[in-house]
Amino acid sequence: MKEMIIQSKVRVCTLDELPVEDREVVDAARRATANSYAIYSHFNVGAAVRLDDGTIVCGTNQENAAYPSGLCAERTTLFWANSQYPDKSVTLLAIAARTEHGELERPIPPCGACRQVMLETEKRYNRPMKIILFGTKECYVLEDGVRALLPLSFDAGFLE
Ligand code: THU
Repeated sequence: MKEMIIQSKVRVCTLDELPVEDREVVDAARRATANSYAIYSHFNVGAAVRLDDGTIVCGTNQENAAYPSGLCAERTTLFWANSQYPDKSVTLLAIAARTEHGELERPIPPCGACRQVMLETEKRYNRPMKIILFGTKECYVLEDGVRALLPLSFDAGFLE
């Protein structure tokens, strides 16, 4: 029997160690948390993407009394960005969250469904997006895209 070891590279840094153009996107995601509609969980998530022309697009989680009808901030943002700017690739995605106690100290990781949508966006534009998960104490930076968060992933290649 063989074994496969799957490794992911994650850079850990503080916000002020990020390049200023990345910090701009992270700060947009942090600000976006104010627009989150999270009356059930009180977990306010903001996401922001930078497109290849520099445009920044933000989104938030949108909850619903029928819980599964709600949507995470990452998917709201990517679907909105891809709907408004279908010809512009996504180069960077930043995610931030806060509760009634304030911003989270540790980075918030995207859920599995959002990772799958992030993968599709990368496939669609044929380029990995940089991913930054924000926390007030530390940030995680994934330089090589969503593959690091979603090993052994299913994509359109299997449908051929
Ligand atoms: N949520 C996100 O928006 N993004 C994530 O990556 C994880 C969870 C939202 C969904 C729900 O509105 C709330 O956070 C609690 O799960």
